[in-house]
Amino acid sequence: MDPTVVFKDFLGSVEVAVTQQLASPEGDVLAEAQRHLCLGAGKRARPMLVRIFGETLGVEAARLVEPAVAVELIHSASLLHDDVVDSGMYRRGRPTVNARWGNVVSVMSGDLLLSGALLRLHRAEPRLTEVALSTVMEMTRAAIAEVDSRGNVEQTREGLRVVAEGKTGSLFGLCGVAAATLAGDEQAARCFDAFGRQLGIAFQMADDIRDVTGADEGKPQYADIASRTPSLPIVLAVARDPRLKKRLADAWSWPGMTADRVRELGIAVLCSGALDEAMAIMSAEVDAAVAALGPYAEHATGAALVHWARKIAHGLALQGAA
Ligand code: FPP
Ligand code: MG
Repeated sequence: MDPTVVFKDFLGSVEVAVTQQLASPEGDVLAEAQRHLCLGAGKRARPMLVRIFGETLGVEAARLVEPAVAVELIHSASLLHDDVVDSGMYRRGRPTVNARWGNVVSVMSGDLLLSGALLRLHRAEPRLTEVALSTVMEMTRAAIAEVDSRGNVEQTREGLRVVAEGKTGSLFGLCGVAAATLAGDEQAARCFDAFGRQLGIAFQMADDIRDVTGADEGKPQYADIASRTPSLPIVLAVARDPRLKKRLADAWSWPGMTADRVRELGIAVLCSGALDEAMAIMSAEVDAAVAALGPYAEHATGAALVHWARKIAHGLALQGAA
């Protein structure tokens, strides 16, 4: 099953609501910036997850639209902030909001998007406000933990997992918790949260892999090395090659790195064999996600979820994503 085809109508409803949320009079630069990021781009993986989780529990599609809109907008708000944190210049095949309008507009439009999403969710489904707020807190703490880890060649795989779970897994978990809350099913909420968290870790690993393979069109290859951010392939490569660890530590201890130096280190990461290991670890994370799904993996939509998760994690590791 290709969920984007099966759930085309649902995704259409989400798109209508997102467009309506971002409508504003002409000349409103913050609204224009939000539309620039959100409209006509993005995989809508999180709304899709809400819908699939909901289908597994028999929740009517119409009730899932608002939570799906909220998770997509929370995700988008986090990207507006992330591109400031990372000095990201290109996203979803376009210049980032900060590249086009500057950091102030990116931060403020992110704030508006986030508060708008939470307000909208609160009006539609007040039972989900608290868990959504906790998720935003967790994402924020993870994002700052990642910033703190910059330049640290001693970063561990466990440290990376914690950051990945907070940054990406917590919001995937929220997709499941939202659907299960609407169904009034606490056991499902626990399973879906665990599944989402594991899957989010795998997605973040796929993102790390794409960074070194240069699979993201329009994004510079080796951006993690340039921004001194330890990623899974980097952590694995330095564990395999102490000389590379020393070279990276030297490069990261200086404020600026030439493009040639970044490329040289990136090639060394690629040549270390760390990429195959990273792919294997990512696959194991998807397996762990499936295990966390428990009895729901046997359900028809649960099985489709598993299939989709595997496909998308591997696809994302090899191709561009948005
Ligand atoms: C992309 O990661 C960023 C995230 C998954 C979340 C970032 C979270 C924050 C900035 C905290 C603030 C949260 C909210 C909700 C406002 P990446 O940099 O690894 O991926 P990329 O390559 O797509 O930039
Ligand atoms: Mg980023």
